[in-house]
Amino acid sequence: MNYKGRHYRTVWLEGETVHLIDQNLLPFEFRIRESKDFVTTCEAIKRMTVRGAPAIGAAGAFAMAQAFNEMPQGGGEEFLKQAKEKIEQTRPTGQNLFAAVRRVFAAATASDSPRTAACREALRIADEDVLCCRKIGEFGGALIKDGARIMTHCNAGWLACVDYGTALAPVYIARESGKKLFVYVSETRPRSQGAKLTAWELKNENVPFSLFADGAGAYLMKKEKVDLVIVGADRIARNGDVANKIGTFEKAIAAKGLGIPFFVAAPTSTIDAACASGDAIPIEYRDKSELLSQTVLTEEHGLVTGQIYPEDFPAVNPGFDVTPALYITGYITERGIIAPKDFQGFAQGSGG
Ligand code: MRU
Repeated sequence: MNYKGRHYRTVWLEGETVHLIDQNLLPFEFRIRESKDFVTTCEAIKRMTVRGAPAIGAAGAFAMAQAFNEMPQGGGEEFLKQAKEKIEQTRPTGQNLFAAVRRVFAAATASDSPRTAACREALRIADEDVLCCRKIGEFGGALIKDGARIMTHCNAGWLACVDYGTALAPVYIARESGKKLFVYVSETRPRSQGAKLTAWELKNENVPFSLFADGAGAYLMKKEKVDLVIVGADRIARNGDVANKIGTFEKAIAAKGLGIPFFVAAPTSTIDAACASGDAIPIEYRDKSELLSQTVLTEEHGLVTGQIYPEDFPAVNPGFDVTPALYITGYITERGIIAPKDFQGFAQGSGG
């Protein structure tokens, strides 16, 4: 993705340093953070400096490579085991993290030059993600007709991946090919990834869009004659159930009720073939402060965080929900668009 005339990936490795676009500062500030060790990279994932399942996967791969680099001379077995666990504990729901960390660990431990092998594998994972998202864009772009009205949720764009995005890649490719389209973007409380990240991305790409409050989704689908809904995924179970940002399930129910196609866009690295159904997907619950406070831009003090509701209010904050496969029209992957009836066989063959 280009920003102010320069191409950026969301997360990248230079030498032993991980570079990340700080997603907690957007849309107000575009700043690159650097992480020189694996513990700092873990913190960046936990605090959502980098977020979105594929981007977390790449960041986790880089963290694992950093850990190999930091391992003590003459036997770092225990160190590496603990490092792997620490990285995997940062965000429990997205499958890409686990798949990426496993890959880097396996490649490095099978090699005579573990540090080099870990680094090479991590870079390969990031490069593969870019290619997969581009393919998702091409397959998904074909679903978008000229003049289409598309609804999306959260941020499954460039910032959620290494580049391009999953749900937004088809939008970008369709635009590239000259189609006119309009995107409805849900705010996505409590962290507002739709308002803060998707809206910022679409503005940067000159794609026309409107933000809407989460509760307005069903009304707008009907009133504005939305043609299709495209969302991303954090983990897809073998039977096609999809864990994605909280609020996805209710959009899928509304879309089905209104006869609007509902597509999930994700690389095969998001599929967890070992997970039989959505019931087995671990759902991350985050701190209630995300719900009760907000960071706002003030003229006097810049970005300031304050309470929007009393901090002693009880609150529950699940980060994801699970949309059962029966609500899904198709899965847009780098290998093509998969129909729900074919998903189980596809998942088993995808090695996820
Ligand atoms: O909690 P986040 O921001 O890391 O959530 C992940 C997401 O952005 C979405 O669930 C997204 O739709 C899937 S990742 C492409």
